[in-house]
Amino acid sequence: MKTVQGCCILFVLQLCLLDSGRTGKVLVWPVDFSHWINLQVILEELHLRGHEITLLVPSQNLLIDHTKIPYHVEILQLSISEETFMEELNTMLYEEIFELPKLSWWEMQIELANSVRQFLLTTKRVCDSAVTNKQLLSRLQAAKFDVCIADPLSFCGELVAELLNIPFIYTFRFFYGNAIERLCAGLPMPSSYVPCVSSRLTDNMTFIQRLENWLLYTVSDMIYSYYVFPEWDEYYSKVLGKPTTLCEIMGKADMWLFRSYWDFEFPQPYLPNTEFVGGLHCKPAKPLPKEFEEFVQSSGKDGVVVFTLGSMIKNLSEEKSNMIASALAQIPQKVISPPLPHPGTAVLKSMKFTVKVYLYNVGKGIGIVSLNLSEL
Ligand SMILES: *[C@@H]1O[C@H](CO)[C@@H](O)[C@H](O)[C@H]1NC(C)=O
Ligand SMILES: *[C@@H]1O[C@H](CO)[C@@H](O)[C@H](O)[C@H]1NC(C)=O
Ligand SMILES: *[C@@H]1O[C@H](CO)[C@@H](O)[C@H](O)[C@H]1NC(C)=O
Repeated sequence: MKTVQGCCILFVLQLCLLDSGRTGKVLVWPVDFSHWINLQVILEELHLRGHEITLLVPSQNLLIDHTKIPYHVEILQLSISEETFMEELNTMLYEEIFELPKLSWWEMQIELANSVRQFLLTTKRVCDSAVTNKQLLSRLQAAKFDVCIADPLSFCGELVAELLNIPFIYTFRFFYGNAIERLCAGLPMPSSYVPCVSSRLTDNMTFIQRLENWLLYTVSDMIYSYYVFPEWDEYYSKVLGKPTTLCEIMGKADMWLFRSYWDFEFPQPYLPNTEFVGGLHCKPAKPLPKEFEEFVQSSGKDGVVVFTLGSMIKNLSEEKSNMIASALAQIPQKVISPPLPHPGTAVLKSMKFTVKVYLYNVGKGIGIVSLNLSEL
C-alpha cells in the first residue's frame, strides 16, 4: 500500500516536472525538524531519478545541516545566530506547552495568536533575506526551475515561486485551527462535522461541542484574517508590486501533500489537488536482534507499544521521564522507548547495542526496553 501511494506521489511529481523522461529542476523551501525529516524522503527519491535539487536554507537552521546535504544549497544569511534562534524557539515552545494550559479559553486564543506572530517574525526575516537579495533571485531565475516544493508553515516559498513564475506544491501536516487549509487551500471543513485539529473533539459531537467547534473555527479565522494575514498581504503586495494577499498566492498551489493518512483523519471532503503522504518515511521491516525479538515475543497477546519523542526533543527532565515511565508501566503492553531514567534497571548486552530493561513490579511485572533506535 505504502509503495503504491509512494509511486502515485512520485508520478504526480513527475507530471509536474517532466515532459517525457526529461529530468527537472526542483527548488525547495524547507522547514526544519520533523518537516525536514519527511521532506528528505521525497528529495532522496527525486534525486535518485536524476532531478536537480536546490535548497534555500536559512543560516540558523538546526536539523538541516547544509554541509551534509548532497544537493545544491543556497544559504539565506540571517543576522540571528543559532543560539538566539534556539532560545527564541525554546521560549515559545515553553510558553505553548506549560503556560498556555493555565490560561482561560479566551486568554489562550490571544496568547496563541501572539505566538504565531512571534514565530512568523523569524519567517519574515528569512523571507526578507531571500526576496531582497537581487543576486540570489537572478541566479534562481537563470537556473530555470520547473517546480518549487514549499511548506506553508513557513510562509514565503510560494512568494519565491511566484517571483520566479514557476508552479509550486506544498508538503504539510496541519495549521493551528486548520486556518490555512480552510481559508487558503479552500478545503471544505463544516464546523458541525469536522472537528478543529486543536479542539480535542471527535466527529461524534454533541450540540454544545458543535457550537464549541464552530467558535474555534470562527475565532481562528478572526485571528488570522485580522491579526496575522494583513501584514503579510501588504508584504506580498509590496514584493510582487501588485495588490494581492497571502491566501491568494497560497491558493495557487498545484498540490497539497498532507503528511497523514485518510483513515487516520476524521472524514471530510478533500479536493483533487490534495494527496496523503503520511508514512512515506517508513521502511520495510528488518529482522530484530535476538534479545529484542525475545522481549517483543514475551509480551504475548497484549503486544508492544513503541514510545518515541518528537524531533525537537533532545532530553527530558528526570521528573518528566519518571512520569512517563510510571505511566507506561501501568499499561499491559510491553513498551519500547528511548532511554528513560528509572530505578530498577537491568542491563542486557547484545552485539550491536545495549538494551536496558526496566522492570516494574506493577501487577503482572511489566518490562520497558530502552534502546538507541537509530542503531536498529
Ligand atoms: C457518540 O457519543 C455518544 C455519547 O458519548 C455515544 O453514546 C454514542 O455511542 C457515540 N456514537 C458513535 C457512533 O460513536
Ligand atoms: C538537558 O537537560 C538539562 C536539564 O534540564 C539541561 O541543562 C541541558 O541543557 C539539556 N541538554 C540538552 C542537550 O538539551
Ligand atoms: C545512537 O546511535 C547512533 C549510531 O550508532 C549514535 O550516533 C548516537 O550517538 C546514539 N545516541 C545515543 C543517545 O546514544
